[in-house]
Amino acid sequence: MTILRTAPLLSFPKPLIDDFPATVLANTALGNDVYLLTLKLAQGLHQQEAFSCLAGQFFMLELSPSSSDSVGVPSFDFRRPFSPLLFDETTQELLIYYKVVGDGTRRMSHLSVGNKVQIMAPLGNALGEGVNPAKTLLVGGGVGVAPLVYWASQQKANGLPAPVLVWGSRFGSDLDALRPQLADVFPPEKVLLASDDGTVGEKGTVIDLIKQHQTVWAETIETIVVCGPTPMMKACVAYFSEAFPKATVLVSLENHMPCGTGACFGCVVENANPDGLPLRVCYEGPVFEASQLVWEAKQPCHH
Ligand SMILES: Cc1cc2nc3c(=O)[nH]c(=O)nc-3n(C[C@H](O)[C@H](O)[C@H](O)COP(=O)(O)OP(=O)(O)OC[C@H]3O[C@@H](n4cnc5c(N)ncnc54)[C@H](O)[C@@H]3O)c2cc1C
Ligand code: FES
Repeated sequence: MTILRTAPLLSFPKPLIDDFPATVLANTALGNDVYLLTLKLAQGLHQQEAFSCLAGQFFMLELSPSSSDSVGVPSFDFRRPFSPLLFDETTQELLIYYKVVGDGTRRMSHLSVGNKVQIMAPLGNALGEGVNPAKTLLVGGGVGVAPLVYWASQQKANGLPAPVLVWGSRFGSDLDALRPQLADVFPPEKVLLASDDGTVGEKGTVIDLIKQHQTVWAETIETIVVCGPTPMMKACVAYFSEAFPKATVLVSLENHMPCGTGACFGCVVENANPDGLPLRVCYEGPVFEASQLVWEAKQPCHH
């Protein structure tokens, strides 16, 4: 089978970036240091437009001085990057699915109803129209599932079919906690779960689970999008290049980002093209074709 693509897999919109004030509606602990933050967004401060973020793009979250007073823990030195999990255009409610890994996310976990925060968006590149959801496999590890769910939700909003999601986590309870949000986006037969502790879904890794469907999927899947911890992404890229040689593998990187806007070069990764410049995850990415990157080198990641 030869795959012919007429539309690009990645798009590089560089719209005007704005700051959006937001109010915390809920900040729910889901267990195992994982939280679901619901924000109500106001229109952008400078362009007076409503928030928008294409699938693949991200935003930088900043805790405002008023929330720092009430949270009472050390300040959020830089803004921190996050992907939307879901966004409701009608209510302007944004869901962030996050894990506490350091000071910034610990401060986030102390946010309470009514606290004010601000987000800067939209940032980074986006998945293009060449990604056909009916022939796409989404592979998530831990909180790396967020951008994948967001992309699938946008396909659904556009009346397109759901992709298949394979999502793995250390704890089955993390998978269970997000079932309501997954059910809003995917039909049940399109969601396959794997947990290290074996309490929900298959016991083992996402690769163990995908191997069970490899024969069928290797013929039908055109695009694979992976987001998760660095070791998981490395293992996936190696496995897919052998087992799914006809598919294009895209990775969504979640590197540390001091500025998020392409200015500081604090987020660069090595370019597989030896003549190419290092790639800024926040500007040329965060979504890359796996073949653009050097996988032997360590890619930073928090999860
Ligand atoms: C585009 C994008 C989307 C993201 N979406 C989500 C999301 O939806 N949900 C979510 O939970 N997270 C997401 N992240 C990751 C999230 O931004 C980080 O977990 C967060 O910034 C950590 O901030 P912190 O202050 O809590 O941790 P920090 O204190 O900044 O770091 C926590 C720990 O990680 C270590 N560390 C810092 N930088 C690196 C690095 N580059 N490599 C390895 N270790 C490092 C630190 O030494 C420290 O021990 C996303 C990141 C990006 C770039
Ligand atoms: S975070 Fe500054 S250039 Fe990417």
